[in-house]
Amino acid sequence: MRSWSVILALFIATGIFAQETPIYLDVTAPVEERIEDALSRMTVEEKVAMCHAQSKFSSAGVPRLGIPENWMTDGPHGIRPEVFWNEWDQAGWTNDSCVAFPALTCLAATWNPDMAYLYGKSIGEEARYRNKNVLLGPGVNIYRTPLNGRNFEYMGEDPYLASKMVVPYVQGVQSNGVAACVKHFALNNQETNRHTVNVHVDDRALYEIYLPAFRAAVQEGNAWAIMGAYNLYKNQHACHNRYLLNDILRKEWNYNGVVISDWGGAYDTYESAYNGLDMEFGTGTDGLTDARTSEYDAYHLARPYLKLIKNGDIPIENLDNKVRNILRLVFRTTMSANRPYGTFGSPEHFDAARKIAQEGIVLLKNEENILPIGLDGKKRIAVIGENAIRMMTVGGGSSSLKAKHEILPLDGIKAAVGNKAEVTFARGYVGKISVGYNGVDTGQAIEDNREKDTLIAEACRIAEMSDIVIFVGGLNKEIHQDCEGLDRYDFQLPYAQNELLDALSKVNENIVVVLVSGNAVEMPWVDNVKSIMQAWYCGSEAGNAIADILFGKVNPSGKLPFSFARKLDDYGAHALDAYPGDRDVYYKEGIFVGYRWLEKNKTKPLFPFGHGLSYTIFKYGKPVFSSRELSSSDSIVVSVPIRNTGGMKGKETVQLYIGDKKSTLPRPLKELKAFRKIELQPGEEKNVDFKISVADLMFFDDVRHAWTYETGKFVVYIGASSEDIKYSTEITLK
Ligand code: GLC
Repeated sequence: MRSWSVILALFIATGIFAQETPIYLDVTAPVEERIEDALSRMTVEEKVAMCHAQSKFSSAGVPRLGIPENWMTDGPHGIRPEVFWNEWDQAGWTNDSCVAFPALTCLAATWNPDMAYLYGKSIGEEARYRNKNVLLGPGVNIYRTPLNGRNFEYMGEDPYLASKMVVPYVQGVQSNGVAACVKHFALNNQETNRHTVNVHVDDRALYEIYLPAFRAAVQEGNAWAIMGAYNLYKNQHACHNRYLLNDILRKEWNYNGVVISDWGGAYDTYESAYNGLDMEFGTGTDGLTDARTSEYDAYHLARPYLKLIKNGDIPIENLDNKVRNILRLVFRTTMSANRPYGTFGSPEHFDAARKIAQEGIVLLKNEENILPIGLDGKKRIAVIGENAIRMMTVGGGSSSLKAKHEILPLDGIKAAVGNKAEVTFARGYVGKISVGYNGVDTGQAIEDNREKDTLIAEACRIAEMSDIVIFVGGLNKEIHQDCEGLDRYDFQLPYAQNELLDALSKVNENIVVVLVSGNAVEMPWVDNVKSIMQAWYCGSEAGNAIADILFGKVNPSGKLPFSFARKLDDYGAHALDAYPGDRDVYYKEGIFVGYRWLEKNKTKPLFPFGHGLSYTIFKYGKPVFSSRELSSSDSIVVSVPIRNTGGMKGKETVQLYIGDKKSTLPRPLKELKAFRKIELQPGEEKNVDFKISVADLMFFDDVRHAWTYETGKFVVYIGASSEDIKYSTEITLK
């Protein structure tokens, strides 16, 4: 055969047999083209099936077209164990014990965006390895009251800190081809009446306090998923809320990810169709319909929705727009090109958990430099308190985990001490003991029915004969003690811990308090102890990280992400009797949340926002300003010299706050506008540079519904906390 006929024959052969790859399957094709191609091939039933759960944590793909299912997993601190198809309880698999990372309040307390990225990347690798394509976290609801049961899952009281810490977490998770699902959007700031409470908040507080972290996650972090909250806003459930989802998320922020309901957060079919919900999960379907083949058919966005589409009540475009968002999730995750493979339970992840904990633990007080505890001279160390031996990775609600291991504080202390000192333990107090959560057992047998006085007497005997006492107490994720669904009843430490501490301080003056908790607590004993450490819930490596700080292997560098007020009524929500409300809750304090409230009322906190001590000393030099004037087009650079004048390397977070001296609308005395964490060797000096631009001076004008600024004078504060201001000066916005 002549050569041309061979070529022609080859062309025909390949042309006939080499099927064109459909665009939706072509990972090199633009996502939006893949979406339209997939959509054009789907039936109405297949489209509707994608919009609601098919099991407790999954929704349908399109098996006929090879489009995978969507698999969600809790939570913000680690990958939840596999559950039964339609249950909350774990299924008892033997390959799904995870790394428990520190609670997100601990991450916020690192004030280190690099830690947030490390966290997101690590937990994203765990989710990826477990073949989940949506991680149901992080939570960024603002800390309005210290009684909120879920504050430990969130990032504190300040919108700027939360905004800066949530973005790298989202980017880290999504670098694994797993969507971060930022929650709970929005105004879920209490657990009391969480399914029914209708939140009233003025637009300035909404835009300046409660939305910024979500907005940053969407606009800077490019979050691929958002979870609606349970509560109502303007009398509409947040999971199908036209103000939050249509007007703000979609129109103002140009969000193009998916909106997922909280589990059981969808209550109305029409609102679910028209008010921005894409994927409905966890709906309680009793009474919705009796003709169900499975209760998932009874979801609002299941049969009821299909019927309304089919009879023309709701246009197919409404459904197509939801499916476009869901397909975009699929092409960003399970069907994306060169998607990583993840890792699970790896040494690197345990190291990451420990590192984040080390950087997040906050040293609140350290009189006579009692910490770090030296291990020379065979000291007698008394460890007292139930939280030294109690697991914290199980319980507290949906963030509960089945961890591969959890190093408890007593274990960590003993491991660090070895035979260099003598460690004795006394229970001291006994809290409520749950043995498990959702079928995950702690495996601990720490019930103890001795009387309070017996426990205190035993603890005092141990304390009396010791050189130093390490008290490990706090809260414990039991109901009403840092737990989803159930806020705390009061600001106190529970289980007579205050009485125990009073007794201990009478027999030993060298007391170090280690608080394991996710919220502030009242500290009537604050003057009777020499040192206080806020140790959060640090997950699998908790005991090691706490010991690393106690014995000086690591120099503490955490800073408080929320204020520790002296008493509950010092918080705005309580001073104004604006919590928990009933059917309605009114955020009467407006923008004055946390230190914004305390400073407005000249109320000294016990430990201020941004506070955290170090074992070394940082000396702040006189900042150098590039100018004292800025305009809407040019900015000011501030250079702050910081020197480590102590004998130990350490990290310091330099904070920059700005206050508007004169404004037509009320504004806080000052607000956090920049921070930078730096490490300095002993004797080393570095300059920390900040840029101040007009954006840092703006406020939300609720009348014009726009961010704006007013020219005039502002005060710049440079400090080591919101109270510990080293330097302040005026600048002028022309
Ligand atoms: C829970 C929580 C949410 C969690 C979801 C799935 O009720 O509010 O944070 O991700 O349901 O467990």
